[in-house]
Amino acid sequence: MIENTLAIETSCDDTSVAIVRKDGYVVGVLSANQDLAHAPYGGVVPEIACRNHTLQILPLIEELLIQTKLNWDEIQSLSVTNRPGLIGSLIVGIVTAKSIAQVRNLPLIGINHLEGHIVAPFLKDEHYAPPTDFNYPFLALAVSGGHTSLYIVHSFGKYEVIGSTLDDAAGEAFDKFGKMIGFEFPGGVKVDHSSKGGIPTTFQFPRGMIHEENYMMSFSGLKAAAQRKIESMSKQDIQENIHDLCASYSEAIVETLMAKLDRAVRLTKIDKIVITGGVSANSRLRDCANQWAKKKKLKLVIPPLRYCTDNAAMIGYAGIMRLNNGERSDLSLGPSPQSLNEDFYGVPSR
Ligand code: KG4
Ligand code: ZN
Repeated sequence: MIENTLAIETSCDDTSVAIVRKDGYVVGVLSANQDLAHAPYGGVVPEIACRNHTLQILPLIEELLIQTKLNWDEIQSLSVTNRPGLIGSLIVGIVTAKSIAQVRNLPLIGINHLEGHIVAPFLKDEHYAPPTDFNYPFLALAVSGGHTSLYIVHSFGKYEVIGSTLDDAAGEAFDKFGKMIGFEFPGGVKVDHSSKGGIPTTFQFPRGMIHEENYMMSFSGLKAAAQRKIESMSKQDIQENIHDLCASYSEAIVETLMAKLDRAVRLTKIDKIVITGGVSANSRLRDCANQWAKKKKLKLVIPPLRYCTDNAAMIGYAGIMRLNNGERSDLSLGPSPQSLNEDFYGVPSR
């Protein structure tokens, strides 16, 4: 039995390292955020992300070992995100994990980043533990800047994708709206804050595919409609209506996500739900989801934000589960921009 794993996550613009025990306990996790480096460009610049991972990864691992008071002899395995993601970013994590695995003669496993998001509710630490009666099967809505998908999580490793966005991810839709109204990247959280006190019915924005009898979503029509609206308004108009604009736009996204989740609960009869990914921080989504779960007597878990946004702890949990199932990657492990066919079944995921 492998007792712990050193996990590395560099799939996009967050450099994150963690040590996770086989029971899901997070011994330590450290992340370096690159938002400031990408803000001037209004989005993640792959070359900048990759360069920053290179600068940050080794100091982060050294600091993690200091903080957790562990030495190299106590690290028993390596888990690293190798798909899906930005190739240059993934390579930094993979090369680091492979080098450590080879030098220390430790087992290594490559992990799908989305699997990390899906299993994040099972992580534990001093302040968080999943509800004792929480287990498989459950529905998972993963909503972030890079992905928006709905899964039936039958058991560990058995993930059925039932729906996905056809275009933008929900976080991307928030960020693009933020950019339109003059917020710095990533604008999602600022749109959320500015929606406080706003009236969500003031502006009518489209809810893409909301009435279609499936779990697919689309946010490009919403983005285009918002663009047209913003272009028709003066700067002063936008400022005077900022709260209503943000509340109306947020409502369109949240209503779409909630409609698809509700449909999934009705049709699958699964009563355990996980919402994860950076957008799970959205206050309107949290309020709606909590009220909905209460009304329908569902068990809803939204893991703490530190495990919802991109982090290495979730990769460590998926990694140690797979390593203890006997799975190994060899030194030919490479990056992939997409998930592999065997990672999920059902409709194609993003
Ligand atoms: O999971 P995450 O940290 O990284 C990705 O994998 O993308 O998610 C980041 C995304 C960004 O698009 C960000 O704007 C969005 O999550 N986000 C929010 C909020 N906090 C973060 N969107 C809406 N409301 C928020 N409070
Ligand atoms: Zn992610």
